[in-house]
Amino acid sequence: MSSVLDYEEISQDFDWSASEKELGYVEGGTINIGWYCSDRLCDLGLRKKPALIWEGHQGDERTYTFDDLRLRSNGIARYLRGLGLEPGERVCLFMDRIPELYIAFLAILKMGGIVQPLYSAFGEESLWTRLDDAGTAAILTQRKHVGKVRRIRDRLPGLRYVIVVDADESKLREAEIAFSLADTPPVEEFEVYPATAETPSVLHYTSGTTGQPKGAQHVHYSLISQYLTAKWVLDLRPDDIYWCNADPGWVTGTSYGIIGPWSNGITQAVLDAGFSARRWYGFIEKHRVTVWYSAPTAIRLLMREGKRVVEEYDLLSLRHLCSVGEPLNAEAVVWSWQALGLPFHDTYWQTETGCIVITNFPGMPVKPGSMGKPFPGIQATVLDTRTGEPINEPGKVGVIALKAPWPSIIRTYWRNPAGYERKFKDGWYMTDDRASIDEDGYYWFVGRDDDVINTGGHLVGPFEIESALLEHPAVAEAAAVGKPDPVNMEVVKAFVTLGPGYSDGEDLEIEIMNFIRKKLSALAMPQEIEFVDSLPRTRSGKIVRRVLRAQEWGEPVGDLSTLVEDEREGK
Ligand code: WTA
Repeated sequence: MSSVLDYEEISQDFDWSASEKELGYVEGGTINIGWYCSDRLCDLGLRKKPALIWEGHQGDERTYTFDDLRLRSNGIARYLRGLGLEPGERVCLFMDRIPELYIAFLAILKMGGIVQPLYSAFGEESLWTRLDDAGTAAILTQRKHVGKVRRIRDRLPGLRYVIVVDADESKLREAEIAFSLADTPPVEEFEVYPATAETPSVLHYTSGTTGQPKGAQHVHYSLISQYLTAKWVLDLRPDDIYWCNADPGWVTGTSYGIIGPWSNGITQAVLDAGFSARRWYGFIEKHRVTVWYSAPTAIRLLMREGKRVVEEYDLLSLRHLCSVGEPLNAEAVVWSWQALGLPFHDTYWQTETGCIVITNFPGMPVKPGSMGKPFPGIQATVLDTRTGEPINEPGKVGVIALKAPWPSIIRTYWRNPAGYERKFKDGWYMTDDRASIDEDGYYWFVGRDDDVINTGGHLVGPFEIESALLEHPAVAEAAAVGKPDPVNMEVVKAFVTLGPGYSDGEDLEIEIMNFIRKKLSALAMPQEIEFVDSLPRTRSGKIVRRVLRAQEWGEPVGDLSTLVEDEREGK
C-alpha cells in the first residue's frame, strides 16, 4: 500500500506552518517536547493506548500507555526538580534501553532541563570528555554502569547528583542516590516548564575531524520538523506498531526513537537486546511490527544470515521500511525487496540537522543505491567547494549543502560557537558529505569530505582515538583512519610509532586495542594497528590522515611532494 501523499504536489507549496497547525503551536507560545509526547496525547483521547511495548534481553516485557508516560514522567520530573535541579542544567542519561531511559527523557524536558543522552557502552574516558564539556549537573544510570562514573567523579566537580535507577541501596557509595521508577508514585499534576521555541532541549555529542566531540544543541522547536518528518517519511498511521533499532545515545534514537513517533501518538516497540536475526524477526512477528527504522549494517548482517531464516517467521505485518546512518547499498535494497517483500527506504540526515533531510519518500519510486530527494521544506544542493556555487550538472560531485534554517537545525555547538559558524557558507549549512544529483533530482552519496570514521553507522572522531592512543606509554605518535569493511562499511585502523625501548608485536597490538576499548568503547577500538617508523606530515608537522586513508581504500594518494597545510583544518 503506498502513501496517499504525492511528493511533487506537497513539495510545491510546502510550509512548516502546516506542522505547527497540526500540533496546535502558535508562534511565541509554549512548546515543551516532554508535554507533547505524553500529556497532549492523553488530552486527545489516547490515554489507554500503549505508547511503549518494551522487551528486555532476557525476554521480560513491560507495557506503558500514554497515560503511564504522562504520570510517570511527571513523577520523575517532580523528583528531579525536588533535588534542586534548575531549568537549563544538563542531565545525562547513561543507561541501556530500559523504560526508565525513555520516561526520564520526557521528564527532564518537562522540568526544563537539557537532556544529554550518552551510549551506555561508552568507557570512562569517552564519558568524562562529554560530561566535562557539558558541565553536567546530574547523571541517571544503572548499577552495571555506575562503576565508570565512580572512576571519573573526582574529575567532575560540577556533577552534583549520581542517580542509580536500579540500585541496591546497601551497595551505593556516599553521594549516590537510589531511585526507583516502580516505587515513585504517579503524579497527576505537574507544572511543566513553559519552554518556548528556542529553549534548549537535547544535547547530543557528535564527532568531527578536529578536537574532541562537539555538543550539538537542539531546541524544543525541533519538534515541528521531527513530528512531520516522522509522520510523512516513516509513513506513520494511527494503528502502527513502530520499531526503531537505534539507541537514544544516537540522534536517531531520540528524533525518531522518542520524539517523532510519540508526538504522533504512535505505539513503539523497543527491544533492549543486541543483534540476532532470529531474535529480531521473532520480535517483529510477536509484536506485529508494521514500520521498521533500521540501518545498513544491521541489514547487511541480516543478509548474511540468509533468506531461509526469514521464511521461518511471519513478517507480513511489515508495511514500511526505512534505513539511516550510512550508505544503503543497492544490494541491500534489492535483498529486502526479495526477502521481505518491501524495499528499505533510505533516509539521510545528521545529528546537526535534527531531522531527515533527504529521503526516498513513501510512494516515490525507489532507485536502489540513491538516498532519494530533499524532504519538502528542505532546500538542498551540492556545492562546488572551490567556487562555493551550486553544481547544476547531473552526476557531478559536490558537498551537500542545505539552506538554513529549518526548525530542527541545531542552534550551536555547546561552548563552541566558532565551530558552529564554520559550518555555514553564504547561508548554506555545509554537511561535509559528498554526493551527486542525477537528472531526476535523486541524490547519490559518495563519501564524507572530512576525516570522521563511520563504523556501522556510528561516527567516531579520529582525534578522540588518537588522544587516547597517546596516553598508552608505548605510543609516541598516532593516526586513526577508517578502513573498508564488508559489514560495517568502515572500521578503525590506527597507525602508530613507538617510543624508545618498545618493540612492536601482536601482544602490544592487542594490549593497545584493549586499552582503547576500555577507555573509549568497542566501536572506537582499532581493529588493526600498524606499527610504522613515521607518519606522513605537512610541512608544519601536522599528520595527514588522508594519505593513510587513501592507502587503505586503494585510492590514489596524490603527489606527496606537494603536501601543503591540510585545507580541512578547523572542521
Ligand atoms: C552519514 C545520523 C549515507 C553521513 C542520523 C552523515 C549517511 C553522518 C546516511 C551523520 C545515508 C547518515 N547515506 N550516509 N542515508 N545517513 N549518513 O550525525 O556521513 O550520527 O554526515 O547522524 O552519517 O551521522 P550522525
